[in-house]
Amino acid sequence: MKPEQPTLSLVNVSKAYGSQKAIRDINLHVNPGEFVVLLGPSGAGKSTIFKCISQLVRPDSGEVWLDSQQINHLRGNALRLQRRRIGLIFQQFNLVSRLSALQNVLLGRLGHMQTWKANLGLFSPADRQLGLRSLDRVGMLDKAYQRADTLSGGQQQRVAIARVMAQESNLILADEPVASLDPVTSRQVLSQLKDVAAESNMAILCSLHQTDLALEFADRIIAVSNGVVTLNKYVRDVQENELESVYTSKH
Ligand SMILES: Nc1ncnc2c1ncn2[C@@H]1O[C@H](COP(=O)(O)OP(=O)(O)OP(=O)(O)O)[C@@H](O)[C@H]1O
Ligand SMILES: [Mg+2]
Repeated sequence: MKPEQPTLSLVNVSKAYGSQKAIRDINLHVNPGEFVVLLGPSGAGKSTIFKCISQLVRPDSGEVWLDSQQINHLRGNALRLQRRRIGLIFQQFNLVSRLSALQNVLLGRLGHMQTWKANLGLFSPADRQLGLRSLDRVGMLDKAYQRADTLSGGQQQRVAIARVMAQESNLILADEPVASLDPVTSRQVLSQLKDVAAESNMAILCSLHQTDLALEFADRIIAVSNGVVTLNKYVRDVQENELESVYTSKH
């Protein structure tokens, strides 16, 4: 059988900030529909990995591949086209506070629109339908016209999930998406994220600080410590003591 083409691949990716080596020779991949959790102590390099993928920072060396295209050398329009294939969810609910839930979700469509229409916010009826369907999918249809800054943290994060659904991206990068949420809401948000990815065959790379949530939701766990990958295993193969050492090991 032909091996599946990963949605995301990093090959020997390194990045230093001045003399501070944040990540070194990172190799990882995420397959379509796969939920991969990135674990690691504070300062390990998780956010730097995300930034190198979304091209918020350029890696010093190595390659980032999205499906069959290498994206780390792209610029201008080619980079913009690739970026719309990556949905971003952050710890601090990155919604526009004065816009409604639906308007925030529709922002996910901007990359698919002609620039002049995007500039004027001229969303098509089909886009609005998709936006409403996405909100419905995460149980937020009744809040579609409520301002984002009047929603609870968990509700805002669900709107962020609806936005990446409406974006129809191939890859979701979620950097500590539940860090500001209580345990019950965290589970709801992660389970929705996981369902959405499985239904749409999206790949998810999600960083977490809670090993119990990683074991519950991940298909595969990748641990990073001091800028290097120290573990990359399917959850069923992970021993509990291996995760304890994620937070104690020194390299
Ligand atoms: N813009 C920057 N300038 C200088 N150093 C940076 C910058 N961003 C990150 N670093 C350093 O790079 C290393 C990795 O940071 P990164 O933010 O990737 O860690 P992290 O695993 O996301 O941590 P946390 O769990 O606290 O979010 C740290 O030592 C950090 O101080
Ligand atoms: Mg971080």
